Amino acid sequence: MNFKDKIVLITGASSGIGEAYAKLIASEGAKLVLQARSVDKLEALVKDINAKGGSAFSFPTDLTDAKVVKAQAEIIKREIGIPDVIVNSAGAGNWLSIFDTSEKDFGEMMASPYFATVYTIKAFLNDMVKRNSGHIITINSAASYLIFPGALGYLSTRWALRAFQNGLYDELRSTNVSTTSIVAGKVDSPYFTNNPISAQRLPKIGAMIMKALTVDEVAMVINRALDKRKKTIIIPWQMFLAIKFGQFFPGVLGMLLRATGYKGIRKEIAKL
Ligand SMILES: NC(=O)c1ccc[n+]([C@@H]2O[C@H](COP(=O)([O-])OP(=O)(O)OC[C@H]3O[C@@H](n4cnc5c(N)ncnc54)[C@H](OP(=O)(O)O)[C@@H]3O)[C@@H](O)[C@H]2O)c1
Repeated sequence: MNFKDKIVLITGASSGIGEAYAKLIASEGAKLVLQARSVDKLEALVKDINAKGGSAFSFPTDLTDAKVVKAQAEIIKREIGIPDVIVNSAGAGNWLSIFDTSEKDFGEMMASPYFATVYTIKAFLNDMVKRNSGHIITINSAASYLIFPGALGYLSTRWALRAFQNGLYDELRSTNVSTTSIVAGKVDSPYFTNNPISAQRLPKIGAMIMKALTVDEVAMVINRALDKRKKTIIIPWQMFLAIKFGQFFPGVLGMLLRATGYKGIRKEIAKL
């Protein structure tokens, strides 16, 4: 994509995939609008990009608050313009079972990434549709196609995000606004440092058949998605094959995920 004078809004830009994507396209002529909660990290990134000749703006936002997202969007539209590209990469959530997850935890996991993504898209979509151009990319997890033990809240939000993204793709068919889901297997990012239990609960079958992706590899896939305008991209290719296998043989894939996944549910039940 030619980024000259384009406006690219990236959520979750203070870390991991969002940050890597901002850095990748920083020198390509786009105006970057960067959102996350961490004011210091966003401002350091903006400073770095602008010092190297890029054009970046920091809009620190808790994207789980619909009113705040809408108010920030109005400022962004007024001061910078309507985004040509939105990359939804904000998201969090620990991997816990039904027994370990409080009602509040379930709500927070649904809030980010699911509602954060919905609110961000809602805040800009009407303007993009009226202009009849734009591309919305959402980073989702391979967990949106899988079921494995000990990560119930996380799995539910990623399945919800996949349903939202697929439905949105359909509703936008008659417009020139595209949407792409980038569905990734494990990515080496601060996500697993911030959510240490998640790292322990990854079903081991994943590491047996594929390497973790780097944030830079995912950033390059985001760039390619802007040119190809595909509905869904699953990476790496081994994860694509595993998901396809699971669609034909769901019982076998489920058994492999359970056999190599978290084994603590029975103990959790025994403790009740
Ligand atoms: N790492 C993986 O293996 C992997 C694989 C597949 C999919 N994904 C998904 O990709 C997305 C990005 O993951 P990552 O690996 O880049 O994780 P990360 O390094 O932890 O980055 C997450 C980003 O989301 C922001 N964020 C979280 N909650 C927010 C909120 N309420 N409001 C605004 N910003 C918020 C964080 O910034 P602040 O804390 O500053 O707000 C941070 O910038 C997540 O949805 C994750 O589930 C990750």
